Amino acid sequence: MSSERVPVELSQGVNGLDKIILRETRGSSAEVYLFGGHVTSWKNDHGEELLFVSSKALFKPPKAIRGGIPICFPQFSNHGPLEQHGFARNRFWSIDTDRPAFPTNSSSKAHIDLILRSSEEDMKIWPHSYEFRLRVALGPGGDLMLTSRIRNTNTDGKPFTFTFAYHTYFSVSDISEVRVEGLETLDYLDNLQNKERFTEQGDAITFETELDKIYLSTPTKIAILDHEKKRTFVIRKDGLPDAVVWNPWDKKAKAMADFGDDEYKHMLCVEAAAIEKPITLKPGEEWRGRQELSAVPSSYCSGQLDPQKVLLGS
Ligand code: BG6
Repeated sequence: MSSERVPVELSQGVNGLDKIILRETRGSSAEVYLFGGHVTSWKNDHGEELLFVSSKALFKPPKAIRGGIPICFPQFSNHGPLEQHGFARNRFWSIDTDRPAFPTNSSSKAHIDLILRSSEEDMKIWPHSYEFRLRVALGPGGDLMLTSRIRNTNTDGKPFTFTFAYHTYFSVSDISEVRVEGLETLDYLDNLQNKERFTEQGDAITFETELDKIYLSTPTKIAILDHEKKRTFVIRKDGLPDAVVWNPWDKKAKAMADFGDDEYKHMLCVEAAAIEKPITLKPGEEWRGRQELSAVPSSYCSGQLDPQKVLLGS
């Protein structure tokens, strides 16, 4: 049987790090590193890469991989005492062979279940026992679905609280030709202005400078329109009320050692997240947060697209 047809393959990636390749029968694929539980590739059935990974990404633990979909847990950014974006993206996850029933609406064979548990080392910085189960799945149409289930397994009776984000780096043709729809008129915290709260104007978001905002109470669907590529990404999310939008632009790009100076032109982070209202779990309780990504061809040119169709339509 040709390896092309194997739905789940354990392989080795950059620097010999373990990765899992998922393949759907119609040709789409995804790659997930055990380091970070980190999706580093998502290709459509034409073999086109849909995620951005920096050409300077290090793939050297414990430094998180620059690009793909880092998991931010148990802390988003510097919103707390832990290291930036928490530690889940810097840890080695395991394949979960003994997983409890995973609710899913996909019959796809192209999925993998990973697990991260509290370690003695991590207990020193975050003194809680947890099980974090992550399912990465490709749908028959090439959609990429990530489902996280986090359970409090503390035996001391104590609850814990966390913030979370799927820090997705989308690949775009030219950031100045991209617009994000679904976040108009919402309140946001501006990370570039001491997390102060503002209200977005009524137009789709476009990019002409550094942007780093946490949009609050966002709809379950957000669309990224790539005019030049004639492609629209649709993000559907559940359990994740907030959405971070980030592009470092030129100065911050130059300051990041694992990011090319001009690469900001070809990426955009839109991150399904739970930040403003942290999640609290009592012992035995479980939280679920899901994001589903699809990439659809769009024949957008100014004035033609009805944003409602993208956000409400199929
Ligand atoms: C974004 C944050 O989610 O991640 C930004 O909003 C941050 O403030 C960016 O700069 C990248 O973070 P890091 O730790 O991966 O360099």
